[in-house]
Amino acid sequence: MLKLVVLISGTGSNLRALLDASADAEFPARVVAIGADRDAEGLALGEEYGVPTFSVPFTAYPDRDAWGDALIAEVARWEPDVVVLSGLMRLVPPAVVDAFSPHLINTHPAYLPEFPGAHGVRDALAAGVTQTGASLIVVDNSVDGGPIIAQERIPVLPGDTESSLHDRIKPVERRLLIQAVLDIANQHLDLKELARS
Ligand code: GAR
Repeated sequence: MLKLVVLISGTGSNLRALLDASADAEFPARVVAIGADRDAEGLALGEEYGVPTFSVPFTAYPDRDAWGDALIAEVARWEPDVVVLSGLMRLVPPAVVDAFSPHLINTHPAYLPEFPGAHGVRDALAAGVTQTGASLIVVDNSVDGGPIIAQERIPVLPGDTESSLHDRIKPVERRLLIQAVLDIANQHLDLKELARS
């Protein structure tokens, strides 16, 4: 059974999809803990699904490195096979990358390397592109520049707003994430090999 720790900042709708998938006895992975960098709405999913939660508030630490060290300690306690950044809206410091990558993966609401950063959906709309996408990557020390695990194109429709477009991207992110977790668990995907190539 693959052990996942999922880190969030927001509502955790992609996390919910992972928790729903894990509820199936046949699914070869379990979310063993949910963590956040703030008082995130999605932490409530812990109680709903009976999964432990923790919070390492970014603002409680003097700098990013100190926050990262505290985050490493909390995450490592759960001995995860994979750490999923599912809407964690913070750059993690190098120590976090060293501790968990390449078993540290991140969903992103754009077709990387297009539109990296915190506003992938907004930036795609502002650029006036006719298609954007969803990506799942290995986290390295770049901003959303790590090896691509999976990605898919999604059209931008006339009249799309940031929220309507994001609402169409998220189900694709969920599918890519769940498939990747399955592939890792079934040893069809080797993150170490992907990161080396
Ligand atoms: C997801 O679209 C995720 O890819 C994005 O935040 C959203 C979280 O939604 N992450 C980033 O933009 C990271 N740069 P959720 O809280 O509803 O799952």
